[in-house]
Order: sequence, then structure tokens, then C-alpha cells
Amino acid sequence: MAMKIAVLTGGGDCPGLNGAVKWVTKSALDPHLAKIRSMECEVIGILKGWKGLVEVNPDDPASRAHHLVHLDEEVVRTWDRLGGTNLGTSRTNPFNPQKDRSDKVIENIKKLGVEVVVAIGGEDTLGVAYNLYRRGVKTIGIPKTIDGDLVGTNYSLGFDSAVNVITEEIDRLRTTAGSHGRIFVVETMGRHAGWLALYGGEASGAYIILIPEHPFSVKRICELLQERRGREIHYSIIVVSEGAKPEGMDEFVKGDKVDDFGHRSLGGIAAFIADEITRETDFEARFVILSHLQRGGIPSARDRLMARRFGIAAADMIFSEDFGRMVSLAHGEITTVPLKEIIGRLRLVDLNKYYDTDRYNGKRIVL
Ligand code: F6P
Repeated sequence: MAMKIAVLTGGGDCPGLNGAVKWVTKSALDPHLAKIRSMECEVIGILKGWKGLVEVNPDDPASRAHHLVHLDEEVVRTWDRLGGTNLGTSRTNPFNPQKDRSDKVIENIKKLGVEVVVAIGGEDTLGVAYNLYRRGVKTIGIPKTIDGDLVGTNYSLGFDSAVNVITEEIDRLRTTAGSHGRIFVVETMGRHAGWLALYGGEASGAYIILIPEHPFSVKRICELLQERRGREIHYSIIVVSEGAKPEGMDEFVKGDKVDDFGHRSLGGIAAFIADEITRETDFEARFVILSHLQRGGIPSARDRLMARRFGIAAADMIFSEDFGRMVSLAHGEITTVPLKEIIGRLRLVDLNKYYDTDRYNGKRIVL
């Protein structure tokens, strides 16, 4: 009997997810490897993340067709070139204490004959994988988050593609900012961690970078802008994480709605900063919110490569029975870490190492 492996993607979509699904599938089904492992496999995709496992009725063929998809080498052949997730995604949390549906998920996994679940996602999705593992389900995680805030790994899928989008969009903004001599405030994603703003800002040569880890002062931003005056520089780019906060204030949220994991949507900080600059100085300031553009488009070369390596490693873990763990990149090598160690923690920017808290930019000292 072939071992049935289920793969799903959860949380925000991003480039690299399809590649990871492709490589889990290809390496699990690889006929040469099957001989070496003396094991045959079958791979199915769960549609819309954990939602698919909550809602599927395994006894009803129509429901199975609606929530599951058969995966083989032919189906996934071109997936590594494609952005988004062909399996769909959701922010469904089966362990939400207000409406716990974890029993249903465990029952469905059993009824479907699934032996291993490979979950590709960030802290929320992998938190569910960990809770299921504690309840006896064999789970494996693959890290994905454009925010880069997952601990236990130095790389999460989607990050590099998002940094490339930020860099390209800022390149584009420079011509119009320069022509008008304006200040542009560019808002990136990044709820708790400033990695996207920092890397995107550094790569594009932004003058000021504001991150959640260091509350900023509007007065200091205006001073820094004034310092450039008269130096033949006619415009400036400020990059700000959506989760960055002015000193003494909370982060900017959009409405009161919370998702299944208790998160509220963030946004509005760039507009606030542009308004403050206009009020406090005689500069003309505009803002741009890059929003979901950062998660769109095709995967960068690095995301394709990492999706391949993570996917292959996850398949290896199935055969070495390394369950309850996440694939990770550490010191340039692929390794694994227990899911337990990554839950409830965040990988934040180390201010001492990477951020100049006076000049609001990446540190200029490397060693
Ligand atoms: O994936 C994480 C993230 O990129 C956060 O930075 C952002 O706050 C959130 O997704 C927004 O996602 P959505 O609008 O899809 O819920």
C-alpha cells in the first residue's frame, strides 16, 4: 500500500509556495528514490490550507473533489515558475479557542487515510502543524513568510521575491520623486519585524528606513531630511514597515476585524508620516503602500532554489520519520528544527547588529 502524503499551504500567499509543493511531490514520487526507500507514495494537495481539512467530508466524493487534488509529476511540472499558490490558502485556525475544530481535522485526516501532512506556512500555519503533532498526527513544516519573522531558520520562502518587488518599485518611484523634488514614503509589509523594510530599503538605497523594532520620532525624520538640503539632493525615499510605530504610539491598524489567529490588519503609517512631514517642513511629501504587490508575481531565482531544497528536504524527512519538525536554513545548510522551538517566538531585527537608531537606516559598520 502506498503511503498517502498530504501537502497544504496556509496564511498569506507568496512566490515559492508552488515550487515547494512541486518538489515535495516530485521527490516523494521519484521512482529511483522509491526503490532505494522501498516505499511507494501517493501525494494529494489539500485546497485552501487548514480550511480544506476542516470542511472536507471524506465520505462524499463531491466534497473530496472540492477540497482535495491529486498531485503527480505531470500535474506539478511547471509549478516552480508560478507565483501565488495553486493549492489556494486561508487563515483558518482549527485550534481557535472560540470554535475549536481540531477533532474534525484529526478525524478527517484518519478517514482520508493520510499518513503525513506537510504544511507550508508561517508561524500560524506551523503552529497548527505543531498542535496536530502533539495530538498524534505526523506533520512536517516548510517555512514561508515574506516578513522573515520565523525563528529557527535563516530563510523563509517569499522573502527574496518581496525584497525584489520593493527594490524595483522604489527604482520606479525615484524618477518621479526626482522630477518633482518630493519626499516619498513607501510602506512595506512586516507586522512585527522590519526585515522587509530593512532589506528593501538597503537594496534600493532609501535615505530613511523605519522598522517596528525601533519606535521613531517625527522630529528626527524632519531633521534628517533637512540635513540633506543644499547638497544637490532634491528628493528622498523613506521606507517604513507597516508595523512601525511613532514613539509613544501603537501601530496603525485598519478597522477592528481580527482573523482566526487574532491578528488585525495593519496599514496607514506611511500616510501619517507623509502628513507630518508636510505639516512640520516645507517639503512636499507623498506616500505609496506596496501592500499585496509584494506577495505577487513570479518567484525570484532564490525562492525557486530554496523551494526546491526545502521541498526535497521535507520529502527526506518523511522517509526518515522526522516528524514534528520544520525544514530550515542554518549557516547556509539545510537542516531541521523541532516545531516546538519556533512557536510563539519571533525573529526580529537585532538593532545592535543591523540598525542605526540615530540615522534610521541600516548600520554602516559590518564587522
Ligand atoms: O504574510 C504576512 C503578511 O504579509 C503581513 O505582513 C501582513 O500584515 C499580512 O500578511 C496581510 O495579509 P492579508 O491582507 O492577506 O491578510
